[in-house]
Amino acid sequence: MRIFKGLFVFFTLVSCVSSPLSQESRLKSVEAKHGVVSAAHPLASEAGVRILEEGGNAIDAALAASFAISVLRPQSSGLGGGGFALLYRKSEGKVHAFDFRERAPRKSTEKLFQNKDGSLKDFFYRKKKVGPASVDGHLAVGVPGLIAGLLDMHKKYGTLSLQKIMEPAIELAEKGFPVYKILKDSIEDRESVLRSFEHSRRIFLPNGKVPEVGDLLVQKELANSLKMIAAQGANVFYRGHIARSIVQEMKEAGGLITERDLNEYKVVERAPVEGEYRDYKIVGMPPPSSGGVHIIQILNMLSKDDVGALKHNSVEYVHLLAESMRRAFADRSEYLGDPDFVKVPVKGLLSKDYAMKLRKSIDGEHASLSKNLKAGDPSRYESPSTTHISVVDSWGNAVSSTQTVNGLFGSGVTVEGIVLNNEMDDFAARPGTPNIFGLVTNKANAVAPGKTMLSSMSPTLVFDERGNLKWILGSPGGPRIITATLQTLINVIDFKMPLPEAVQAPRVHHQWLPDELSMEKDALSEDVVKALEAKGHKLVVPTWVVGDVQAIGKLENANWIGVSDKRSDGHPKGF
Ligand code: DON
Repeated sequence: MRIFKGLFVFFTLVSCVSSPLSQESRLKSVEAKHGVVSAAHPLASEAGVRILEEGGNAIDAALAASFAISVLRPQSSGLGGGGFALLYRKSEGKVHAFDFRERAPRKSTEKLFQNKDGSLKDFFYRKKKVGPASVDGHLAVGVPGLIAGLLDMHKKYGTLSLQKIMEPAIELAEKGFPVYKILKDSIEDRESVLRSFEHSRRIFLPNGKVPEVGDLLVQKELANSLKMIAAQGANVFYRGHIARSIVQEMKEAGGLITERDLNEYKVVERAPVEGEYRDYKIVGMPPPSSGGVHIIQILNMLSKDDVGALKHNSVEYVHLLAESMRRAFADRSEYLGDPDFVKVPVKGLLSKDYAMKLRKSIDGEHASLSKNLKAGDPSRYESPSTTHISVVDSWGNAVSSTQTVNGLFGSGVTVEGIVLNNEMDDFAARPGTPNIFGLVTNKANAVAPGKTMLSSMSPTLVFDERGNLKWILGSPGGPRIITATLQTLINVIDFKMPLPEAVQAPRVHHQWLPDELSMEKDALSEDVVKALEAKGHKLVVPTWVVGDVQAIGKLENANWIGVSDKRSDGHPKGF
């Protein structure tokens, strides 16, 4: 198993902040008056800001950054994936939640990923084993929603032409950009799967080799697909040329996606979930994401504690936080799924009384024991896949969007230069069996035709007591999306940290199963670790990224501050 060595590298990008912040918190932040884009690659932030400068709104800029990031981070997100977005329209004073997540193909069945004896199925391509069927190859692919989602938002609220918005992405795909370390590592990590499929091999292993850092990655086929979409709209992806190529590829390799699946893909606009914490209103993504529900549930559990009076990352704080996370993730495992297929008790999960009941069950002295279930090996795919984009414009509109192909390079299958997701692994391949993130789900998240797989993606918006937009944030990281976003919120609200410090502060994570408390290296002092162990926590230091938060906040001086997580490659840009 490869380990992402570069993940904790301290980035040397120096920001242009001029406010009196400490050196560390200046890192990867930018202050601007008119608008900011925080994305996981500086060129994607730049693509978004270029659109803002040309008079586009936050929706236009979010699209430009999304298309650019699709090219720049094919390992993370793209046209073959899906996502969620929260859009705040200042003129309406309203948040719209867009669900453009992948859906299970119509031919899917509950036991799609199981052999007759109940063991998990492998995927074979041309008689050669590629890997687990829910993860590698054609069966792992959910019907992609990204193009439908982005273009729907554009149709409803965009102002500039699609051609203009997609220009930077097309240029990046056509002319190429230098391979950076995390991209090289990601290709290396997925080399064997990418090598299995001719189109993936040709694009990501040019001359049959993993490219070196600094080599140009040119994606001509992707540029063509982007051009077709710019000219013909979503139709070309769901009914036209690209649809036909996807269906043909599926037919040849034993995948499930049909023309009808693509024709019938629908974006769903949902009511966001809302909660109050201290003086703030937290607005999050509702199911089929678990993100909004559990961030609010955990904040509710903490709402009667004077968290700000505890020391950040002290024994008392981490114990309380971990026990709250444990309880929320236990509920996630049992109750969360696609609300169009199963009844998700959102009201109960968000109820303050229920949260207090859970809070009371936390023993201040002892860690609870999560049920003894066989855990998987989440580390294999813990990786900088998935991406978050935060945008604000000069009118005060905002977009918070998380997008993904799930694991690194999704299924490893590429069609028309488009990497297809492996989102089907977010379903319970077998109830109670951990997915690639070690997450255990059950009946509520079983595979069914047309159903949406459960997500942790947590695009979030926070408003102050006067209803003014205060923070825009989100992160990749599988289950760590929830806890990274949560801790950033607690850091700004309870610990009163400036946003850059709140994003860069070391994090911890608990997801009920496996029953362990993970901490970033040096997050906790030796004394704190010992005291937590004495309470019964099993502490582990993961070698992977613990989120990659992209955030924007409103400052006292009315400027915006954008921050990109130091844990990965992003850098915000403003104007
Ligand atoms: O929707 C989800 O929760 C996952 N598919 C997200 C995957 C992810 O964040 C991978 N990044 N490390």
